Amino acid sequence: MDFFKKWFLDYVDRFTSPEVFIQENIKLKIEHTSRVCENILLLAKAEEVGEESCRLAETIALFHDLGRFEQFMKYGTFKDSESENHALLGVKILENTVILSRLPLREKDLILKAVEYHNLMEIPECSENSRELVFYSKLIRDADKLDILKIVSEDYEKEKKFRNPALEFDMPDTPGCSEKVVMDILNNRMAKLTDTRNLNDVKLLRLSWIFDISFPATLALLKERGYLDTILYSMPETEEVQMVREHLESCLNTVETEYRI
Ligand SMILES: [Fe+2]
Repeated sequence: MDFFKKWFLDYVDRFTSPEVFIQENIKLKIEHTSRVCENILLLAKAEEVGEESCRLAETIALFHDLGRFEQFMKYGTFKDSESENHALLGVKILENTVILSRLPLREKDLILKAVEYHNLMEIPECSENSRELVFYSKLIRDADKLDILKIVSEDYEKEKKFRNPALEFDMPDTPGCSEKVVMDILNNRMAKLTDTRNLNDVKLLRLSWIFDISFPATLALLKERGYLDTILYSMPETEEVQMVREHLESCLNTVETEYRI
C-alpha cells in the first residue's frame, strides 16, 4: 500500500499548472482520492471483510480517479462527455505504467474492472463478473459518491462567486428544474447527466444517487454527515423541490427502518 501511495503522489505531482483554476481542481482530486480511501475502509470494515480485502479496496480507491488529472489538464473539465471517459483513461494509464504488475493477476484484473465500473450508471450485468468484482465495484461507487456529496454540499453553502464551476459541469444557475430529472427521482431512479439543464438539475442528480447506494453504512454516514439536507436546503423552495424533498425523506426513512441504521 505504501508503495502505491508513493507512486500515486509522484504521479500527481507531475500535474502542475500556473493557472489557479486548473491547480485548484487538481488539488481537489488529490484530496478527494485521499478521502475516498478513508471512506472505502470505513465501508469495508462495516462489511467485516478481512485485512487483505481492505487493502484491495483501498488500492481501488487510490486509483479510481487516476484519469482525472490528465483529463483536467488536457480539457479543463470533469465532464466526460466533453472530454473523455476518465475511468477508461485511468485504466489505460494503469496498464501503460504497469504499476499493478507486482500484484497477482486476479487482483490486478479486479482493480482495473472496478475502476472501469466506478462511474457507470450501473454495474454491467455480465456473466464474467465475479461476486467479488461486484462487491468491490459497489464499495468504490459508494465511497466515491459519499465524498462527491461532501464536496458539492460544501460548495453549495458558499456564496455564488466562491463556488467552483467545474463541480457543476458549467451549468447555468437558472430557475426551475427538468421534468425528466424530477420524474426519475419520484420513480426511485438515478437521474441522467444528459437530462440536466441547469444547476438545480445537477443538485437533483446528485440527490438521486441515493437510489444507487449499496451498503447500509453508506446511508448511515450520509445521514450522519447531513450532505443530502444541505443540498436540498440550498435549492429554491418550489413545489417540485418540496415534492422531491418529501419523497427522498420518505425513501431514506424506509431504508432506515429496513436496515435499522
Ligand atoms: Fe471518478
